[in-house]
Amino acid sequence: MKYRSTKLSNIPPYQFAEIQKRKYELIDTGVDIIDLGVGDPDLPTPDHIVSRMIDELGNPANSRYPSFGGCQEFREAVADFYRRTYGVELDPKTEVHALIGSKEGIGHLMQAVVDPGDSVLIPDPSYPVYRMATILAEGSYHPMPLEAENGFKPKFSIIDKDIVNNATVMFLNYPNNPTGATVDLEFYKQAVDFAKRNDILLINDSAYNMVTYNGYKAPTVFQVSGAKNLAVEFGSLSKSYSMTGWRIGYVVGNKDVINSLSIYKSNIDTGVFTPIQKAGAHALNSDQSCVEEHNQIYKKRGEAMIKALQSIGIKAETTNATIFLWVPVPEGYTSEQFVATILEHTGVIFTPGNVFGPSGEGYFRISLSASTPRINEAIKRIKELKDRFLVQ
Ligand code: MLT
Repeated sequence: MKYRSTKLSNIPPYQFAEIQKRKYELIDTGVDIIDLGVGDPDLPTPDHIVSRMIDELGNPANSRYPSFGGCQEFREAVADFYRRTYGVELDPKTEVHALIGSKEGIGHLMQAVVDPGDSVLIPDPSYPVYRMATILAEGSYHPMPLEAENGFKPKFSIIDKDIVNNATVMFLNYPNNPTGATVDLEFYKQAVDFAKRNDILLINDSAYNMVTYNGYKAPTVFQVSGAKNLAVEFGSLSKSYSMTGWRIGYVVGNKDVINSLSIYKSNIDTGVFTPIQKAGAHALNSDQSCVEEHNQIYKKRGEAMIKALQSIGIKAETTNATIFLWVPVPEGYTSEQFVATILEHTGVIFTPGNVFGPSGEGYFRISLSASTPRINEAIKRIKELKDRFLVQ
């Protein structure tokens, strides 16, 4: 019996699922694991969002199929968020689409816009889904290295001309996972210009757009004039409102691309459960102080972790966004070796940088999404490794 397609055989299992499997194996053997691997907020979903969900559950109309592209209230809430936050106008009917989380949307969008053999430009390191979704769509991908010296931004001018000529799609992701890097509007202007000159669809994954601190506010690509002609942007409620398990996100921008995604999705899934969309709309429409409170908690956790790493000789630096720290491994270790050593001696899970692509080798990622007491416990255990890593 054939139990797997060739294209599925071309991709590995989802790395975070593998890490989770290993975590539960270790827990079963009695290890006290502190999981700073996956970016999955421990902070509770704010009460006003949960209450709205509960209210909506009581409405029998909500047990029926949701609307495919998203209910009007959710789409309008996303459009209002863009108007309020960035001064960008979106048509809720044609330029906004609800998603079962941005991961789902990214995966399905590649099926909707990529033909076998099409080339896709993908930042390296980056969220593994961009690469895997490209392979599943039978496209080929070309890494755009993100280097610390260039603020973890791709250099468009050094991409090989032939590769650029064949490219139909380019991913960007700011604020960036895994590096925590941020960009200004000038960068988006360059990206839009590059995409326009080369007839490329620009996909900006902006899942961490609200998880910012130190006074930084993330721009949107749609603040660049003409961006709607060639770009879509993904957003998520997962990290900003601690709603990873709810599965709610959106895509906005070019209406033809959104229409293609909509056609694909309507043949595959039937949208997001309406109470979740209504609660999501309520999250976007309500007072945003809960987001700021969460951001301040991540910032403090990050500062404490950076201090601990520096105290044992590991060079960690602060960022202005995301729930991640992207840290070079100490000399003499590969990413995998270092993460395995930390796990063995402390029970703390980090993500090895190579999970995010070849340019991630030499780094590891820390997710600040365990409770503050558990992060403090991780810090305590890491500090005990001082003699192992501290270069004298
Ligand atoms: C991450 O840790 O990079 C993401 O939260 C993983 C995911 O979305 O599956």
